[in-house]
Parts: sequence; structure tokens; C-alpha cells
Amino acid sequence: PAARKTAAKEPGKAPRATADKIGRQDWSSWPHYDKAASGFRGYWYPVTWASHITGDPKPFTLCGEKITLIRDNGKVYALHNRCPHRGVPLSEGNQQFPGTVSCPYHGWTFDLPTGRLSAVITDGPGCRLTGKLSVRTYAVEERLGMVWVYMPIAEEEPHPIDEQLPEELVSNAFVMGGRFDPRGGNWRFACENGFDEGHAKYLHRTALWRLFKPMPTWNITRIVPKGRWIYRVQDEVYWEADFPGVGRWTNKRWWMKQPPEGTFNLGNTGKTDKVDPVIESQDFPGFASLSMPGMLRIAYPNFMHYEFYVPIDADHHMYVGVMVNFKQGWDTLPFYAKYLGAVRWLFHGQFSGQDAWMVDVTDAPPEKLYRPDVSLTSWRNLSEEEYAKRIAAAGVTEATANSTETEA
Ligand code: FES
Repeated sequence: PAARKTAAKEPGKAPRATADKIGRQDWSSWPHYDKAASGFRGYWYPVTWASHITGDPKPFTLCGEKITLIRDNGKVYALHNRCPHRGVPLSEGNQQFPGTVSCPYHGWTFDLPTGRLSAVITDGPGCRLTGKLSVRTYAVEERLGMVWVYMPIAEEEPHPIDEQLPEELVSNAFVMGGRFDPRGGNWRFACENGFDEGHAKYLHRTALWRLFKPMPTWNITRIVPKGRWIYRVQDEVYWEADFPGVGRWTNKRWWMKQPPEGTFNLGNTGKTDKVDPVIESQDFPGFASLSMPGMLRIAYPNFMHYEFYVPIDADHHMYVGVMVNFKQGWDTLPFYAKYLGAVRWLFHGQFSGQDAWMVDVTDAPPEKLYRPDVSLTSWRNLSEEEYAKRIAAAGVTEATANSTETEA
């Protein structure tokens, strides 16, 4: 295919990909993305609800690495979930002493902040290994009621988490509802599905959520970059067409001309009034946007929906769906009523379940793309560029970016 030839001519340089290269079959234009089956390193990922982490260690897998999370004195710690003695998961252990976790097998005891072997209960104070062995630790933060873990590139220091969160969540007060849902399928398919222009109206044609929010059928999407996000913006083209056996399809409900000067228009929903001031102040050029490392944002006029596609391993991901409302006090009651009464079940449940099913059965590459897939190729271009910057900043090569020591 032409795309493959181009890549071969310019080794190391990803050509600009467009969806109109019908002959495309592989992912050679996006070499980093192609290799990121278990996720991109150099990012913070939400792992679980903060309230689920107690003094009892719990096991998780993130980007293919097994970790255990445990809370001590109010703070959450993350350690590699493998005792270096005989490989027993530390998440099966317990806290014999404050600030430590002990392996359940022979009582090797590790200091939580450093991962250092601080005592060996079955070999006494004279144990020669004490202080000389460590298990890897990971940086942890709590935001949005969740525990976030930094998966580093090689041995780099973590980037500040606030630089990686959606900016409107860093300094505004808000309430939220959401769910963590472990799912089958690669995280990249989940991410692409979330931003996929073509699937919204067709895959979700039977979703009850559509009774409340019409899904767009667009025929032309432009991708608009803004900061570290790319936005999917539909051109204002109104069409109706008959498809034999499928019926009449139209994008009429989503089509409208430019909003009047000074009003706000999210994704041509026609709702130019009653827009939340926080959402309005962000000046979103389109209602769907996507950012590394797989963070989808849907801006509705009065609330925001986020989807984080967290890599568990090459074949599983964690879907984290969050609905946020920038209100406080009694003003939050309508949001909670709406979330618990409808959104949680219809949107984060049935609607999102259709996505889960499709992600699980997707099998690509090889693939042949069509015009609306510009949303996918633009995301892959973005991830290539961002990750190239990321490993350059970390001062490593791609070959060493993923090699981290779990014991020392
Ligand atoms: Fe952990 Fe022996 S396997 S102490």
C-alpha cells in the first residue's frame, strides 16, 4: 500500500495520515501507537475510586504491570505487586507494622514510601537482606475521588498531574457521578471508538439514551487542534438520503447555521442558551474532544462527560465514565437526580455497553478506512506527536522507554 511505501522512504518520520488512503491496511504510519498495545507511559491513569483503597492491599494491573494499592495514615501508596522472595503478590499480604506491607508467605516486610525491605519477620533483626532490597514504587495522587497512578517512562520523575487532567477540572468546583468498568478489548480500540464519528448514530441507533440526546449523523468532520486536545467539528452540511432497506437518514436535528454572535454553540445542538458559565469559558470549538493518553471529553451545555480508557494489558482496559456538573449546594440536586435516575443506567450503562461490545470484537489492523475515519487517523497522528515529545523530554529512546526495573 502507498502508506507503507511512504513510511519506508522516510524512516522515523510519520507521514501525515488521512482517512482517504483507502489502501491503508496497517499502522506503520503510527509506529509508537502501533507498539503501545499496553498503553503509553509517561502519564497519570485513574485506577479505582479512592474510597475503595483501605489498609487492606488490593491488586490492580496498569499498562501490563501488576501493582498493589494500600492506604496508610490517610495516604495511598502503590508498589509493584510481587514479593521478590518467591513471587507472591503483596496484595495478599497485610500491615503488620504501620507504614509497611508484609508478604503473607514468609513475612518479608516492605516500607510503603520507598518499597525498601525493612524487616524479615522470619529471619530476625540480623537478616542480611534488610535494607538492601526494594520493590518498585509508583507515584500516586488522589483527584476526582479517584486514585491516579503515574506509569513512568523508564526512571523519569512524574509530571505534575494537574498538567494532564482536563484543565476545567483543576480549578473549578464540581460534583460528579461515574463508574469504573473493566472491559475486554484493547484500550486503543476503546479510545478510537469514543471519538469515532461514524459509529454514534449507527451502533447506538437502538440506545435509549438517544431519546434524550440525538446522535449526529455527519458527513464531513474537521479536526480542530486546540492545546493538547483535538476537537471533532462537523461542517454545517445538512443532508437527507434514502438508503435502500435502511430507510431515510438525516442529520437535520443537528444541523444549524452559525450561532448568533456572542452566543455559545456546542456541537450544533441548537442549545445556545443556558450554557454553564464554566463550560462557556472554556470556549470549546466542538462538543467532542480527545487528548493523550486516551481521555475523551464530551461537552454538553450543562454538564461534561469524560471517558478515560485505561490500559490494563494488551487485551483489557478499564472504562472510566464520569459525568461532571459545575454546581454547588442545592443546585446540584437536579444533576444528581438526572445522573442517578437516567444517565448512570442509560448512558454509562446501556449506551456505553454497546461500545464495550463493539470494542471487544474489533480486530484491527489490517483495516480499510473510509472518510469519517479522519477522526481516528487524527487521533493517531496526535498520539504519535505527543508521545515523540514525551520520550524526548524523558531523554530516552523508544527501545528503553518501557524498560523499568521492578526490583532493586
Ligand atoms: Fe514473600 Fe516469601 S514469598 S516472603
